[in-house]
Amino acid sequence: MFEELKDKVAVITGSAGGIGREISQKLANFNVVVVGIDNDKKRGLETKEIVEAGGHAAYYEPVDLSDESDIKRVFEIIQKNIGPVDILVNSAGVCRPMPFMKTTKEIWDKTIEINLTGAFLCIQQVINGMVERGYGKVVNISSRSGMIGSKGFASYSASKFGEIGLTQSVANEFAKNHINVNAICPGIVFTPMWEKQLDDYISLKGYNPDDMQAELVRKIPMDRLQTEEDIANAVLFLVSDMSKNITGQALMVTGGY
Ligand SMILES: NC(=O)c1ccc[n+]([C@@H]2O[C@H](COP(=O)([O-])OP(=O)(O)OC[C@H]3O[C@@H](n4cnc5c(N)ncnc54)[C@H](O)[C@@H]3O)[C@@H](O)[C@H]2O)c1
Repeated sequence: MFEELKDKVAVITGSAGGIGREISQKLANFNVVVVGIDNDKKRGLETKEIVEAGGHAAYYEPVDLSDESDIKRVFEIIQKNIGPVDILVNSAGVCRPMPFMKTTKEIWDKTIEINLTGAFLCIQQVINGMVERGYGKVVNISSRSGMIGSKGFASYSASKFGEIGLTQSVANEFAKNHINVNAICPGIVFTPMWEKQLDDYISLKGYNPDDMQAELVRKIPMDRLQTEEDIANAVLFLVSDMSKNITGQALMVTGGY
């Protein structure tokens, strides 16, 4: 199954993160050559080692996705040394939950820059090559917050709604070139992103830290949080031939929430 993925080159942004790491492992298990890019060198290299320990090829390149010239530099290295990029998964992201009136322009700009502009610039780096080869898969990891805004998530939600607009527009423009561009909207996955935002989230929502997980699960019809693997499985589907007639979609992976 998924033999069409063998030796395809995939760039995964945010490969040092919880979801990016799982996506890297999942695709490598189907013989995709995985190239992780992230600004967290320690965890980025760990992801590469984990994938290699599974007996698969893996690369890591450091990048700052808020810096256009750094993005260009890293994609030049990848396309010169590893090969043309067949699959791009934009999983890097930041989230700073906070009351709307405390959201400074600096926080707003940084969130849009990394989550939305970073994804836009990465797609620009790979799309011409995909057009030339008449093959390409782009998956943008948006969020449930890209479908539904909620208290304390103005900058994050705006960036994630933006990613869905970006997905639909690029999908439409390149559909004739056989390039599939889709988004995935995860619900709640306890990754390092959650560890970083936990205190802000608890004070924003007024939760008791001990009850927080139960409070979150209570909202989810399928009665559990999402896992990294739930998201990676959806990515696998969207980069495989099983979904070759699907483009411009945003797939909620939220347990019905
Ligand atoms: N975890 C969740 O509950 C959840 C829910 C919905 C959507 N998402 C989305 O899923 C994606 C992955 O999230 P995660 O939970 O794995 O988070 P994570 O914090 O574990 O991973 C995000 C990664 O992005 C990297 N990154 C941040 N800024 C960067 C920059 N300037 N340059 C390069 N890399 C940078 C970080 O180093 C990190 O490794 C994100 O886009 C996030 O918004 C997560």
